[in-house]
Amino acid sequence: MTDLNRRNLIRNTVLAAGTLGLSLSALGNSCDITATQPEGSFFPENNQKDKDNDLTQVAGSRRLALGEVVLMKGLVKDQECKPIKGALVEIWQACESGKYNHSGDPNNAALDPNFQYWGRAITNERGEYIFKTIKPGEYQATSTWVRPPHIHMKVHLRGHQELITQVYFKENKRLNDLDRLLNSVSPKEREDLTVDFKKNATGPRIGTFNITLNAL
Ligand SMILES: [Fe+2]
Repeated sequence: MTDLNRRNLIRNTVLAAGTLGLSLSALGNSCDITATQPEGSFFPENNQKDKDNDLTQVAGSRRLALGEVVLMKGLVKDQECKPIKGALVEIWQACESGKYNHSGDPNNAALDPNFQYWGRAITNERGEYIFKTIKPGEYQATSTWVRPPHIHMKVHLRGHQELITQVYFKENKRLNDLDRLLNSVSPKEREDLTVDFKKNATGPRIGTFNITLNAL
């Protein structure tokens, strides 16, 4: 195919997409920036020794965290959907009982000493990250609001706007539908922040959460 033909093909495809009401993202030419969610009040206060991407065990102990082990993985991309390496992905969350390792958490539930409440990963050459963690418990945010299980996330990369968001579990539809934070974004964004952790015959459930950063 000549360059001219290729250009015409791209132009016609874009025109056809416009006629059909498709966005460029539907064609894979652009990715929508991942929706943000509030950071919340329970980002770890103290530096911790164990900084790896396996939150189910704390360094120096052989005991395992309580709860259902899950894997969360995904790609960090730019707005042209190109994977980016070297992005720092941090997650933090409650343990199985719904309690955060933070002095400001009013929840009376017990802390799990074998859970690593925060972890980090750096995207590889293919833009991929992965965490091994547990499904966090739900918790009472106010007398009339129960927060569904969710994983907090921050993504940093030089030259890009820092992304702060929260990831939800698809199977918690009732609580997700009532959640004030999840409902503060558009239906499409809500869907993107809600991950289907799929059964895996050989190990823990696996959820895929892809992230698009906003280049500065
Ligand atoms: Fe939270």
